Amino acid sequence: MIEARDLTKRFGSKTAVDHVTFTVQPGKVTGFLGPNGAGKSTTMRMILGLDRPTSGAVTVNGRRYADLDSPLQEIGALIDAKGVHPRRSARTHLRAIAATHGISDARVDEVIELTGLTEVARKKAGGFSLGMGQRLGIAGALLADPRIVMFDEPVNGLDPDGVMWVRRLSRRLADEGRTVFLSSHLMSEVQQTADHVIVIGRGRILADAPLADFVNANAPDSVLVTSPDAQRLAELVAARGATVTAGEDRESLAITGIDAREIGRLARDHQLWLAELRSAGSTLEEAYMRLTAQETEYRAGEPAVVQGPAPQVAAVAR
Ligand SMILES: Nc1ncnc2c1ncn2[C@@H]1O[C@H](COP(=O)(O)OP(=O)(O)O)[C@@H](O)[C@H]1O
Ligand SMILES: [Mg+2]
Repeated sequence: MIEARDLTKRFGSKTAVDHVTFTVQPGKVTGFLGPNGAGKSTTMRMILGLDRPTSGAVTVNGRRYADLDSPLQEIGALIDAKGVHPRRSARTHLRAIAATHGISDARVDEVIELTGLTEVARKKAGGFSLGMGQRLGIAGALLADPRIVMFDEPVNGLDPDGVMWVRRLSRRLADEGRTVFLSSHLMSEVQQTADHVIVIGRGRILADAPLADFVNANAPDSVLVTSPDAQRLAELVAARGATVTAGEDRESLAITGIDAREIGRLARDHQLWLAELRSAGSTLEEAYMRLTAQETEYRAGEPAVVQGPAPQVAAVAR
């Protein structure tokens, strides 16, 4: 478990992390999301004691990183994949870490295998692609079989195979009951990997929720309808509080706030012709864009209207 309490980091006049409080739970993959510069890496560096908090505190399994007896066994981290001596082979690099932490060479071979580095294990790390470097960083993080793993932007530079591999690995580690904490600025990636998301923007926590709840709250599922009677249908569902967005073709509607079944019933009751009726999920990316758009609007001093049918329906009526 990782617990941050009122954690703040300033670099001169710049506040990189601004009073953040969160808990990362075991048995789940927690995605730490935010655009570049949001404060993800700084937060992770503070978790590892690499940056000192300006105020507040963060603990790993209840203790500050510096106070852990065998930190590598408690938390394995990939922060900067380039932190490897370029003329050392992957195997030598891992053996050096292992030797200083009482870990066997057999375990080194195990993580080499696990991370798909067997073929290049004897090659100089300096010549590694970004993807191979990431795998080596992950191998180092897993060496001591830690209860918590923390990866900063692990899929950066990985090919599709590598991305899939990180996803499966994260899932497996979480299923084994470990705490898995990974940062990303790529929403689509996290959607497929995380159970829980912590969203950070400009150093502040914007959301901390199960992935599904976050998506539902910020981008509710919509129903897509195609109907020659679109205008009448739009008025009917809007009168029931749903939000309607009309397509360009005058026949298609995207509706939120009322489910497909209810729309079908309304259409039948009013003898409206439905050519198509289907439920469509929404994505983490949509939820994230909505959330950050709202943030921007609040900052500009305008209330953010997310619900409310009137403006969209006007577009249909024309
Ligand atoms: N050592 C540092 N000195 C000054 N500013 C820093 C330093 N490290 C990070 N920052 C600033 O703090 C903010 C957060 O950075 P970072 O934690 O790297 O964000 P992220 O990982 O989410 O992209 C950025 O504005 C960045 O420029
Ligand atoms: Mg970063």
